[in-house]
Amino acid sequence: MSRTIADLGFARLKNPLMPASGCFGWGREYSQLYDLKVLGAVVTKAVTPEPRSGNPGPRVVETPGGMLNAIGLENSGLQGALAEELPWLQEQGVPILVNVAGRKVGDYVQVAEALGDQDLLGLELNLSCPNVREGGISFGTDANTVYKLVSQVRRVSPLPLVVKLTPNITDITEPARGAEAGGADALTLINTLRGMAIDVRTRRPILGNVSGGLSGSAIKPVALSLVWQAAKAVSIPIIGCGGIAQVGDVVEFLLAGAAAVQVGSATFADPLLLPRLVKDLEAWVEQEDCSVKELVGAAHC
Ligand SMILES: Cc1cc2nc3c(=O)[nH]c(=O)nc-3n(C[C@H](O)[C@H](O)[C@H](O)COP(=O)(O)O)c2cc1C
Repeated sequence: MSRTIADLGFARLKNPLMPASGCFGWGREYSQLYDLKVLGAVVTKAVTPEPRSGNPGPRVVETPGGMLNAIGLENSGLQGALAEELPWLQEQGVPILVNVAGRKVGDYVQVAEALGDQDLLGLELNLSCPNVREGGISFGTDANTVYKLVSQVRRVSPLPLVVKLTPNITDITEPARGAEAGGADALTLINTLRGMAIDVRTRRPILGNVSGGLSGSAIKPVALSLVWQAAKAVSIPIIGCGGIAQVGDVVEFLLAGAAAVQVGSATFADPLLLPRLVKDLEAWVEQEDCSVKELVGAAHC
């Protein structure tokens, strides 16, 4: 087991595996299938100050090698999270990253301030959602905005801050450096890539929101390359995410420089995937006689 320990700098996890935000809810349904404690950590659905009903349907479409979603950050808001979801998840005994989103900088500050005294692994600031009209992606594409947002949240929160960046940008190293300079403790790379699908019969976009975020196996090479580039640019740990579906994918992300990984869309096809990946990774490091720590960034050498 010690071979699988993941070092995030601000914390050590029993293994590097966690679900990606929005693909696991708050874990209630999954907890009926397996003990959440087997995971390195759990990442929650985005929390915004006010409850949100999200975008009009259809909100998901299957695509070759992946899916498009335009959920639009549906959630029960800060009060809902504090009153119902978080107390339940805290009883499960697994480290928790709360994903935070908003329309403006003040929204992130408000949620971070309200969660500051909670027993959490940290906050994951979602600066990268492609499916909301205000905020979302626009925060994550400008290095200076990333810097300002992260520094303002840093001022009000004692919790570790993980900044989740968008792949919808020319040079990932700019917002990555902005986040690091603003006081981020780690980065999550990547959120979804903007995409769309059109129904050829109705001749209309399929998603109610017109465009959505592409995720799943199709985006893995993109995610891997962005992790690789960011790992060269910053010295804070990176959590890799995008298209992970088997243990080989996990190892690839570690080799590219990720200290831990998140699994999203693939859990929809196989809800037991995460605990299986925990076992498969244990077997892999045993067989290769190595540790997760040794693998992190090893492809750069
Ligand atoms: C249905 C769905 C909902 C999502 N909701 C969120 C969210 O609330 N916050 C967030 O930061 N990312 C959200 N994401 C993005 C995922 O966390 C992840 O970054 C992305 O799907 C890439 O990983 P994957 O290819 O393993 O799915 C969502 C993705 C999907 C498919």
